[in-house]
Amino acid sequence: MADGYEYEADALIAEDIDAYLEQQREKSLLRFITCGSVDDGKSTLIGRLLYDSKMIFEDQLAALEADSKRVGTQGQNIDFALLVDGLAAEREQGITIDVAYRFFSTPKRKFIVADTPGHEQYTRNMVTGASTADLAVILIDARKGVLTQTRRHSYLAHLIGVKNIVLAINKMDLVDYDQGVFDRILLAYRAFATEIGITSFTAIPISGIAGDNITTRSDRTPWYQGPTLIDHLETVEIDVAADRARPFRLPVQWVNRPNLDFRGFSGLVATGEVKPGDAIRVLPSGKTSTVTRIVTLDGDLDRAVAGQSVTLTFADEIDCSRGDVIALADQPPQVADQFEASIVWMAEQEMLPGRPYWLKLGTQTVTATIQAPKYQVDVNSMDHLAAKTLGLNAIGVANLTTDRPIVFEPYADSRTLGGFILIDKLTNATVAAGMLHFCLRRSQNVHWQATDTSREKRADLKNQKPAVLWFTGLSGAGKSTIANIVEKKLTRMNRHTFLLDGDNVRHGLNKDLGFTDADRVENIRRVGEVAKLMTDAGLIVITAFISPFRAERDMVRAMMAPGEFVEVHIDTSLAEAEKRDVKGLYKKARSGELKNFTGIDSPYEAPDTPEIRIDTAATSPEEAAELIIAKLLGEE
Ligand code: ADX
Repeated sequence: MADGYEYEADALIAEDIDAYLEQQREKSLLRFITCGSVDDGKSTLIGRLLYDSKMIFEDQLAALEADSKRVGTQGQNIDFALLVDGLAAEREQGITIDVAYRFFSTPKRKFIVADTPGHEQYTRNMVTGASTADLAVILIDARKGVLTQTRRHSYLAHLIGVKNIVLAINKMDLVDYDQGVFDRILLAYRAFATEIGITSFTAIPISGIAGDNITTRSDRTPWYQGPTLIDHLETVEIDVAADRARPFRLPVQWVNRPNLDFRGFSGLVATGEVKPGDAIRVLPSGKTSTVTRIVTLDGDLDRAVAGQSVTLTFADEIDCSRGDVIALADQPPQVADQFEASIVWMAEQEMLPGRPYWLKLGTQTVTATIQAPKYQVDVNSMDHLAAKTLGLNAIGVANLTTDRPIVFEPYADSRTLGGFILIDKLTNATVAAGMLHFCLRRSQNVHWQATDTSREKRADLKNQKPAVLWFTGLSGAGKSTIANIVEKKLTRMNRHTFLLDGDNVRHGLNKDLGFTDADRVENIRRVGEVAKLMTDAGLIVITAFISPFRAERDMVRAMMAPGEFVEVHIDTSLAEAEKRDVKGLYKKARSGELKNFTGIDSPYEAPDTPEIRIDTAATSPEEAAELIIAKLLGEE
């Protein structure tokens, strides 16, 4: 083949691709999810959408035809479900097990469809899929009507803020395209939808298998006057207009400072619009300035709107960094550190009220603790149930507190500034998704009261440096014994101390707490707060708690001034502690009489790098106390 010919062919293809891409660029993008169970014909429907929009490539088609023959289909040539149920596991088990995103396009619009499984245990998948969706297709089997799972899907879609709901009443071929069936389902669904706050939806009678009302209007449903599914997907209004109409918000992703002459603030405009000359305010600091330029890769703009990624420059050198939010000066968003929120729990390990998690909202990352839920929602009946925690796939409402104020908007107004995820600090796993409802009034009305006598003055009077000696270790490790000797020795040295001991505190302040993970977290949180107050009073605090979890020990460490927290691991092996069994508790735990016992059926997470580690097999309590005091006073 001559060289020239090849070049020509390449050029031609390149031109075609350019034209194609240009055409694609101009089309709007609709993101949607499909909700339904294995039996509702969901995979068949998605397969049909892909097939009819010619997004199946020749080789896939050949494979599909071969597969269809092998599996044996009910009369039609191609089993579209096979196309979608690509995973071997799915075919074997007959269920879809993760969120799959598929792309297709028609002459009018581009689409990304998130295919989410219908089984209850996969609520988190649906939430993930719905979080970016403009529209949800809720599939109903015409023979079965509105089911529990229909309600669950609708509730979740609505909760996640999906604005457009399509009720695809499928398998109309199996009910003889009977208008009566369609109308009855429509009526039942409308009653339920109204109850949960869905004000409008579009119902379409379809058959995924026979192709009725998917891309072409079916003459078998002459009584139906509405659009076909594709018509509707192509023309439904996407909420960009609404986003643009809202006040201007730009969460700062990074500060762009290539040289000393340029300092710009980059990010995606979440809502609203901004122009050079606009007076802006940076939150949470509240500092103001004026926009001088809107810089993009394609040159400066004379305005930026929701959905655009831009870099702004200001007239003044004001502080602004990642996580801050830029707004118009006279329309600032709220800033708060206490909220009510809906929370969807997505981790195997249940939520631990009081545990510090990372909270990511927009470009802000803070530490947050969640209080015990006000209630959990039964996603099947919508009933509110009492709950102490949230397990995998549970949805509830709870108050939460962040360690510093964040810039936010209610989720109903802004997905970007109202939606958040929670991340486990140790494993880095995403454990929950949440939606802020509103900030608690007390977060704005309860202020820190400055007092004239400072913690330094109180400590000076006592002629000592406050500290927390935080003992941790198994039950029976020797924490109380050694802590007691340490305190005795320190008081003899005229130090002002206070010993907080697990068993004792559990008789008073914490007598409402047991030994579940959640109660232990709360136990340590309260003790941490008390220890903090005592260091403010100038004391040397000694605590003796099992404190089995790293996360809470780290949380208490973070509450104290740098260097004030001294972690002391009283390291006794489980075998040794059990051999001593001073209180007879190990015996009870082994016999099953005592549940959730540390080391037996409740975990102990030893510290990795404690300030002090006492190996009780090699060190007597007296020696241990000497070592600890030497280390403490050596730092004074
Ligand atoms: S912690 O885990 O929340 O830090 P804490 O130190 O307050 O525990 O209390 C531990 C003491 O409670 C133990 O020394 C033991 O005497 C007693 N105890 C009773 N039940 C349990 C249990 N299930 N697990 C551990 N300790 C228990």
